[in-house]
Amino acid sequence: MKPTFRKKLLAWYAANGRDLPWRRTSDPYAIWVSEVMLQQTRVAAVIPYYERFLAKFPTVEALASATEQELLAAWAGLGYYSRARNLHAAAKQIAGAFPRTYDEIRALPGVGDYTAAAVASIAFGLPHAAVDGNVARVLARVTAEAAAKKRLQALAGELMDRRRPGEFNQALMELGATICVPRSPQCLLCPVAELCEARALGRQNEFPAVAARGTRMRVDRTVFVVEKNGRLLLWQRAADDRRLAGFWELPERLDGLAGQPVGRFRHSIVNHDYTFEVRTATLGRAPRGHRWWPEQRLSEIPLSTTAKKAIACWRTATVS
Ligand code: ADE
Repeated sequence: MKPTFRKKLLAWYAANGRDLPWRRTSDPYAIWVSEVMLQQTRVAAVIPYYERFLAKFPTVEALASATEQELLAAWAGLGYYSRARNLHAAAKQIAGAFPRTYDEIRALPGVGDYTAAAVASIAFGLPHAAVDGNVARVLARVTAEAAAKKRLQALAGELMDRRRPGEFNQALMELGATICVPRSPQCLLCPVAELCEARALGRQNEFPAVAARGTRMRVDRTVFVVEKNGRLLLWQRAADDRRLAGFWELPERLDGLAGQPVGRFRHSIVNHDYTFEVRTATLGRAPRGHRWWPEQRLSEIPLSTTAKKAIACWRTATVS
């Protein structure tokens, strides 16, 4: 079964794999950046960030000598900002040649088993199986086992094509992302459908078991866009804030000011659904802890996604 599985999977990938920007490079640094971005973010969302990031920081040295503010500004919107901080710390640690073994790559800050296996296999052709959520689902279905991660990792290692580990790993990820999707998998298009136990049992929708969705909280918030001579009133989060440390924000409260509503937008994180009302107000002086920042230079600082959405909302309302 294993040689057939490999052969069919790789032939399918050669014909159907998407042309993604990190598949056109063999630079380990670029591959590492892509894998870190892809850890918690979907391919379509990653592409523009990846391209801008590499244009700005084309080498590990360029990244190591960037300031944290520049780095966060380039990462703003991708979320999970500890990834950017770890990338920065790792770049400083690398100083020179990119590590070439699984263990050295695994030892970098922010690199776990999955990312180390992905980088080692794709950049260096080392035979390590990379098991992310997509791959785990494919393997759980192929074997019809509600298996633990350890077992799936071992299975992936046995299935792996040791001559082409990078392609093999990416082919499995691709199958999970495009065909063997969580709900309503496209078994008719699947290159390994005849080898799939769950499919043979007609139980492909039962693997892997779906975790119950937690309850969500709805919260209403207000945010102020205060403009003065082409500058906006902002404040910066502390370096040790639990969320979005070092990011710039719009004020949510201004003493005695009600302002004028100009629009609203929604924003969801983890298990919260926020509705923000955007208000505009005028102020002569910046309150304590706030400062005026030129609207033309917002791309130079890490702005929170909610601040970006609020400013876009305010612009739409004020141009018309
Ligand atoms: N997800 C994680 N790594 C990936 C890769 N190299 N290609 C596509 N999707 C991925």
